[in-house]
Amino acid sequence: MSLSVVILAAGKGTRMKSALPKVLHKISGKPMIYHIIKEALKISEDVTVVLGHEAEAVKDVIKRYFENVKFHIQDLKNFPGTGGALKELKTKSDKVLILNGDMPLITADELKSFVVLKADIVMSVIELENPSGYGRVIIKDGKVVKIVEQKDATKEELETKTVNAGVYLIKREILEEFLPKLSNENAQKEYYLTDIITLANQKGYTIKPLYVKEEDFKGVNSKLDLAHAEEIMQDRIKNELMLNGVIIRLPKTVFIEEGVKFEGECEIESGVVIKGDSFIKNSHIKANSVIEESHIEYCTIGPMARIRPGSFLKDTHIGNFVEVKKSKLLGVKAGHLSYLGDSEIDEGTNIGAGTITCNYDGKSKYKTVIGKNVFVGSDTQLVAPVKIEDDVIIAAGTTVTKDVPKGSLAISRTPLKIVKDFYYKFFNK
Ligand code: UD1
Ligand code: CA
Repeated sequence: MSLSVVILAAGKGTRMKSALPKVLHKISGKPMIYHIIKEALKISEDVTVVLGHEAEAVKDVIKRYFENVKFHIQDLKNFPGTGGALKELKTKSDKVLILNGDMPLITADELKSFVVLKADIVMSVIELENPSGYGRVIIKDGKVVKIVEQKDATKEELETKTVNAGVYLIKREILEEFLPKLSNENAQKEYYLTDIITLANQKGYTIKPLYVKEEDFKGVNSKLDLAHAEEIMQDRIKNELMLNGVIIRLPKTVFIEEGVKFEGECEIESGVVIKGDSFIKNSHIKANSVIEESHIEYCTIGPMARIRPGSFLKDTHIGNFVEVKKSKLLGVKAGHLSYLGDSEIDEGTNIGAGTITCNYDGKSKYKTVIGKNVFVGSDTQLVAPVKIEDDVIIAAGTTVTKDVPKGSLAISRTPLKIVKDFYYKFFNK
């Protein structure tokens, strides 16, 4: 199938009330535009994104994820609007599927259904109880006659509950014929892509409406829409994981970003957040833990633990209020209240409550390396850079400031003093 896809993403997104371009706002950890490009690439190799507002910033983000996407820069000053976006754009195929860049929930399967219909133009429509904000679609005898924007609509047209969802399949020759004829004589002084539909109808082209699901074609225009879209995307991600064998307790309370991978038997308790390209295998993540961009296999984590980016944990137990950052833990137990940053800790080692790797001296970060079968007593500070070899005991309350050789005891303690009957003297009892 020869098809070109064009994604419109040049607008500012004023209603988002944000300095960040609209299409870069994230849903499930990835920019909105990422989700739509990912689906578009499943149906066509020729995908062009139209950029304008903050073009370079948006382009840089897209390039981080995709290599084979083309870009077209819109002349926003002279030709603003969704019609202006397509001026000067050359597409490879004679069928062009045009999408708004603010529809992160559409799927490749839904996009395919546009191509199946026989017509000069196929456009997406939704029936809405509350059509406010959308362009209204006037349909007569099953054919689209006209699209009128809310701001330009007459009172009667505003009553129409059939709206334009913002996806169109248009023959290239029709675009070439009518793009030069668009005018900006409307409420927003913009060149509307939707006017092409009206003009094409007047010329006798057939325009079929394709009724689509509101949930999947919803445009994100505000941060309220963003939150609604997030809920839908989260449901999709977690439903798929559960169908693939992951146990998720109270899924509505769990947040899992796009890109997180699971393998084997995993259980995720309520309130858990898992971000980035994390990988989790045969592990149990207990309530209210946060995992970012980390690799975890055969572990129990939490409740209330935080595993920060760059961590690699295997056969390890992490208990409550333990924070791990950029560390490699292999067969370790850290049950309570610790900070393990920039560290490497080996098999059989036990980290006592209140252990802290002091990895930062105010200027640079340093590493802590701990060998096998080390017993780190409670309330130990490990001042990095420092290395503890295998089979070491570190006494509770020790501040370790130099390397500890294999088999030793390390202890630093102020001697304990006991003053007899001090209490009674002090309180005069
Ligand atoms: C548009 C449609 C409206 C439809 C709605 C569906 C027009 C004139 N109106 O309105 O009928 O109901 O989508 O969601 O097309 N963009 C550009 N260049 C621009 C302006 C916008 O590329 O100059 C991009 C935006 O980045 C965005 C998309 O086009 O991704 C839609 O723009 P937006 O301003 O959200 O259009 P709506 O007012 O929602
Ligand atoms: Ca929109």
